[in-house]
Amino acid sequence: MIITVTSNKEGVGKSTIAVNMAALRALVGRKVLLIDLGSKKSSFEWSKKRNCANIQPQIPACSMKGRCFEMEIGGLMSGYNDVLIDTGWRNTKGAQAALKIADMVVVPIEIGDDSVDELKQVIRRIKAARRTNPGLWAVVVIARTEGTLVISALDKIRKYIAKIPSTALAGTVIHERMSLQHAFNTGLSIFEYQPGDSLAVAEMHDLYRAQKMRRARLPSLSRMQKSSLINSGASK
Ligand SMILES: Nc1ncnc2c1ncn2[C@@H]1O[C@H](COP(=O)(O)OP(=O)(O)O)[C@@H](O)[C@H]1O
Ligand SMILES: [Mg+2]
Repeated sequence: MIITVTSNKEGVGKSTIAVNMAALRALVGRKVLLIDLGSKKSSFEWSKKRNCANIQPQIPACSMKGRCFEMEIGGLMSGYNDVLIDTGWRNTKGAQAALKIADMVVVPIEIGDDSVDELKQVIRRIKAARRTNPGLWAVVVIARTEGTLVISALDKIRKYIAKIPSTALAGTVIHERMSLQHAFNTGLSIFEYQPGDSLAVAEMHDLYRAQKMRRARLPSLSRMQKSSLINSGASK
C-alpha cells in the first residue's frame, strides 16, 4: 500500500504520523520504505537516528526533491509492501506526484477557526490528483489537540468532509503528547517508546484502523499503471 501524508501547513504532525505508521507496519513484519519529500527532512532524520541506534526493525528512508521523486518512484517502490510518503506543506511537483501514486492520503489538521479553509486547499490538491488516480482514498485526522475539542469547530469540519466523496474524518484525534515528541526525537515509534503511553498508542492504532475504512468500490490503479502515469509526465 502507498500512503501519502500531506497538509498545507508546517508543524501539524505529518512526519510524526508518517513515521509511526511506517513503524507500525514494519513491526508486524512488512517491508516498509519511508520517503521524505519535506525540506526539513524530519522523517528521514528519524530513520537515520533509528538506524544509527540499531533499533529493530530498521526502516529504510530516503529524502528526495520532487523531480527526482517523479523519475525514481517506480523503481523505488518495488520490493516493499508499503511505502509511506511524507510531503512538505508546499504544493510542489513532488507532493502532487505523491498524491497521484498513493492508495491513500492522510491529512492531519489542527482544529481552529480557519481549519475548513485550510482543508479546502488540501482537498483541491486531492481532487486534482483524482483525475488520474480516481481510487485515492482520503482520511482527515485532527492532530495536536490539547484538552477537549471545541464542538462547533469539529462540527464545521465534519459537515464539510461529509460533502467530499471518498474522504472520511478519522474517528480518533491525535492529542498533543510529550511521549510522541520524545519518541520522534529518538528514532522510536510510540509503540516502542518507554515508559509506554497507552493513550498515545491507542490513538495511533485507531488512525491505522481508520486507514482500513477505504471503500472497496473505489477503482484502484495497479502500481505499474501508476508509475507509468508518473513517468509519462501525467503528473505535470
Ligand atoms: N501529537 C503531538 N504531540 C506532541 N508533539 C508533536 C505531535 N505531533 C507533532 N509533534 C512535534 O511537533 C513538531 C512538528 O511535528 P512534525 O510531525 O514534524 O510536523 P510536520 O511534519 O507537519 O511539519 C515535532 O517536534 C514533533 O515532535
Ligand atoms: Mg514534516
